[in-house]
Order: sequence, then structure tokens, then C-alpha cells
Amino acid sequence: MLNIKVVLASVREGRLGEKPAAWILEKAKARKEFAVELVDLKDYSLPVFNEPQVPAMISGNYPNEAAKQWAAKIGEADGFIFVTPEYNHGYPSSLKNAIDYIYGEWVNKPVAFVSYGADGGVRAVEQLKQVVNSNLQMHPVPAVVSMARPWDYLNEQGVLDTTHFEKAGDTMLDQLAWLGEALKAARK
Ligand SMILES: Cc1cc2nc3c(=O)[nH]c(=O)nc-3n(C[C@H](O)[C@H](O)[C@H](O)COP(=O)(O)O)c2cc1C
Repeated sequence: MLNIKVVLASVREGRLGEKPAAWILEKAKARKEFAVELVDLKDYSLPVFNEPQVPAMISGNYPNEAAKQWAAKIGEADGFIFVTPEYNHGYPSSLKNAIDYIYGEWVNKPVAFVSYGADGGVRAVEQLKQVVNSNLQMHPVPAVVSMARPWDYLNEQGVLDTTHFEKAGDTMLDQLAWLGEALKAARK
């Protein structure tokens, strides 16, 4: 089984992000290859990163308690699904801050993306692919679920109609499983 964390990037009051996160969480849980957990950045309240040392240079000995808890949770994972909105044609600062806090816990693991926004959040994902794949040596899953104007797919009860996204979600999870198994074996 691959331990997969669904990372909910928006920490905003009234965020829409809970809906796509809940959808992909349940969809991933239904797969026999995965043990899945939601990791909500709101639960970690990481301060803006201002540590004196570079996380990549301290071999996991993070001095700050919030970072220790964050590192322990991310360290459990064999892979990730980042659920991210697009803010000003990029991804939210909450997610960058959480990425920057730690280092080795990310390395050599796959990351898939569910994005949303007026144009599907595709610019946020393109930026993220560069960030995760360079210094962090993570492996982006090629297939992305991009939800364009998801607010148009909410019914009167506020439930998100995910019909249009199921096929893309299946493909993304197939690729996450394949890459996740390959990288887990390689890490050993
Ligand atoms: C600071 C900010 C900047 C935004 N910039 C963009 C943008 O560049 N492109 C876009 O498609 N939507 C943009 N939006 C709209 C968001 O896609 C929309 O509000 C979405 O619901 C945000 O996700 P959240 O509710 O989970 O935080 C922006 C929203 C905020 C709060």
C-alpha cells in the first residue's frame, strides 16, 4: 500500500478547496493501492518561514516545533496529491511556505495535482511542477485534474458536481500509483 497524503493548500475562510479535496480524497480511498489521509495546511499553522538554517542542510533536525510536526506528517508519505487554487496566476503562499519548511521528507516522492480556478488553475500547477522537481527532487505526475470555474458546478446545496472530472481523476490516480510504486522501490 502507498501512503498518500492529500494536501489541502488553501487556508482561507470559506475556501472552495474543501470540495475538490473531499472528492479526490474519497476517490483515492476507493483504490486498493492507497492508504489515504487528508493533510489540511490549516491544521498546522506554520508561521512564515524565518528559520536561521536552510532545511536541506540540517538532516531533518528542524529546530521549531511546528516544523517537527509538519515533517513527521510529510515523512510518513509515499506520495502526495496537492489540491491547489490559483492566486494571482500562481499557487498560494500557504503552500510555498509549507513546502519550504522541510526538505528530505519531500525528496524522491511523487506528487499529483488537483487545481482549480477560472482557467482551471493550470498556471499554479505549471509553477509547482518547476518548484517540486528542481531542488526538491520530487516527481510530478503528468496527468493533472484542472477544474475550470468549479463554482459553476455547485448545486443549490453547495455540492460540487464532479462528473466532468472523474475520467481525469482516474488517469491521474493510475499514474500516481505507477510512479508511487516505482519510487517506493527505488527509495529502498
Ligand atoms: C488572492 C486571490 C487571487 C486570485 N487570483 C486568481 C487568479 O489569478 N486566477 C484565477 O483563476 N482565480 C483567482 N482567484 C479566484 C480563485 O480561483 C477562487 O477564489 C477560488 O475559490 C480560490 O480557492 P479557495 O476558495 O479554495 O481559496 C483568486 C482568489 C484570491 C483569493
